[in-house]
Amino acid sequence: MCGIVGYIGEQQAYPILIKGLHRLEYRGYDSAGVSMINADGVLSVYKSKGKVSALEASVADKDISGTIGIAHTRWATHGEPNAINAHPHFSQSKNLSLVHNGIIENYKSLRIELEKNGMTFCSETDTEVLVQLVEYTQQQHGCDLYRATQLALKSVVGAYAIAILDKRNPDQLICARKGSPLIIGVGTNNGAGKGEFFLGSDATPIIEYTNKVIYLQDEEIAIMNRNGDLKITNLSNVKQTPQVHTLQMNLDELEKGGYAHFMLKEIYEQPNALRICTKGRLNIVDKDVLLSGIIDHKEKFVKARRIIICACGTSWHSALIGKYFIEEAAQIPVEVEYASEFRYRNPVIFPDDVVIAVSQSGETADTLAAIQLAKDKGAFLYGICNVIGSSIPRATDSGTYLHVGPEIGVASTKAFTGQVITLFMLGLAIAKEKKTLSEDMFHMLVDELQKIPDKMQWTLDHNKGIDNFAQMFTYARNFIYLGRGYNYPVALEGALKLKEISYIHAEGYPAAEMKHGPIALIDEEMPVVVIAPKRGMYDKIVSNIQEIKSRKGKIISVVTEGDTIVKGMSDYCFEIPDTRDCYVPLLAILPLQLLSYYVAIAKGRNVDQPRNLAKSVTVE
Ligand code: F6R
Repeated sequence: MCGIVGYIGEQQAYPILIKGLHRLEYRGYDSAGVSMINADGVLSVYKSKGKVSALEASVADKDISGTIGIAHTRWATHGEPNAINAHPHFSQSKNLSLVHNGIIENYKSLRIELEKNGMTFCSETDTEVLVQLVEYTQQQHGCDLYRATQLALKSVVGAYAIAILDKRNPDQLICARKGSPLIIGVGTNNGAGKGEFFLGSDATPIIEYTNKVIYLQDEEIAIMNRNGDLKITNLSNVKQTPQVHTLQMNLDELEKGGYAHFMLKEIYEQPNALRICTKGRLNIVDKDVLLSGIIDHKEKFVKARRIIICACGTSWHSALIGKYFIEEAAQIPVEVEYASEFRYRNPVIFPDDVVIAVSQSGETADTLAAIQLAKDKGAFLYGICNVIGSSIPRATDSGTYLHVGPEIGVASTKAFTGQVITLFMLGLAIAKEKKTLSEDMFHMLVDELQKIPDKMQWTLDHNKGIDNFAQMFTYARNFIYLGRGYNYPVALEGALKLKEISYIHAEGYPAAEMKHGPIALIDEEMPVVVIAPKRGMYDKIVSNIQEIKSRKGKIISVVTEGDTIVKGMSDYCFEIPDTRDCYVPLLAILPLQLLSYYVAIAKGRNVDQPRNLAKSVTVE
């Protein structure tokens, strides 16, 4: 949720830290701060409320000469967003400064104990407790900072990724993690006694400088030295051998590339992103599906009594589409669970269950906890994630990466369609092993699936003009989204997109549920978005539309190209190409993403950084 950047080396730290904060701003943006040990040995901390640009303005006349520093962009958990609660936090003596992602659950009892021992606090945050605890431990044990941090973290309950500066030792940067991600970038200038290290809560602030990274593991602590030495141990001081990975991400993927917002860029990227996602997995010549994550463990899937999919938010919506498809194609019962509910129930899990986690970030705290619970109960775990090397893929037995590229816009778009197409490939791969589809049907479904990226392109090209149309709906206080079958989850996702970036209340319903209550809401001011493709339950949805029309609701429909009946009943209509019923969600969601984008723009919202939201929800 929050973002961390760090640097130690020969370059000036400040420009690297600020650029990194800008890249991480999508993770949290209510306040930001930076700390450096400057040329005169002074440990400075500069912080401000608001965006990173506000921090930059406030630092304009300050000493920013240091070549070691840490920085943070915050999404408030404990304490309101203001400069005092922003990170980095000083220790009492001002010898140490610390940034933190995560939540310290026992911070209250630790704070009371520290206060009893004479430590005083400036902020309301759990983070300040950490830095004071490290300082107090160091004073009590008379040890070095590394050891003091190890000892202090042993008494901490909760999740953390931290980085610490010590003004008495300007050649060392210390970091540690448990439950929140932290990545060390190994600089290209390392060697001959010279060292350069970068630190990030994800790879985005690092990739510009190096693609060699080390993913710190839970309960590991690292010390990066200016001479190029790197030591990693666990909290019990047992040495760990770091594995250096090479990142494939490229810098262009982190830029807006001429689009006004990351969200818009990511909407338009979808056809190509899905081509990459299916490359080597959908075999056009043989009309086959090859998912190595399934092939390597096919017995688990063939024998699975049940599949449980755990996810949150948009990923939960894609999971629901996956459920419909897997049940239809592979004839395995599928349950879709909100990870946050699942983890606190005592769910029945059989050893022959397969539990799938769907997550763009691979770091969502609830999804991670849900699969850990399933693992303890003996299930086989499969991950469907986008961020390579993130916690969920590392915690699962097997899985499939989306490969849709970094998603920076807070509202998920290309990750959603990437998840849906991956779940389709997964369903087909299992169906092939289980022989639950005829050969003809299997080939036809594969063939049609590989045409989807081109049909997505058609949909984007033929739905220009949504920007003008969206202006008409800035007045609306509510929207209803309706769909049936495979398009019910699309209605949920369309409604979520609208509410999170335009702040207009929106609800998604199965269309036939309308008459069981929600129809009471319909009047001439209520826009109703209906997904009404030619296939599936077309006649039924036409009746549903009639029920709304006769109560004067405004109809915005998504129809198959050439449709006249629903088009004639609609106030506005988006067309999509014809496809199999099950694949409609991959096309129908596109105009709905654009609709929410343009309504939000017309209302003057910041679509890439909607209020109160953060991209990666690493706290409960
Ligand atoms: C909505 C959105 C969120 C995420 C949810 C899960 O646009 O992005 O609802 O889908 O927070 O995140 P991941 O997929 O990273 O687990």
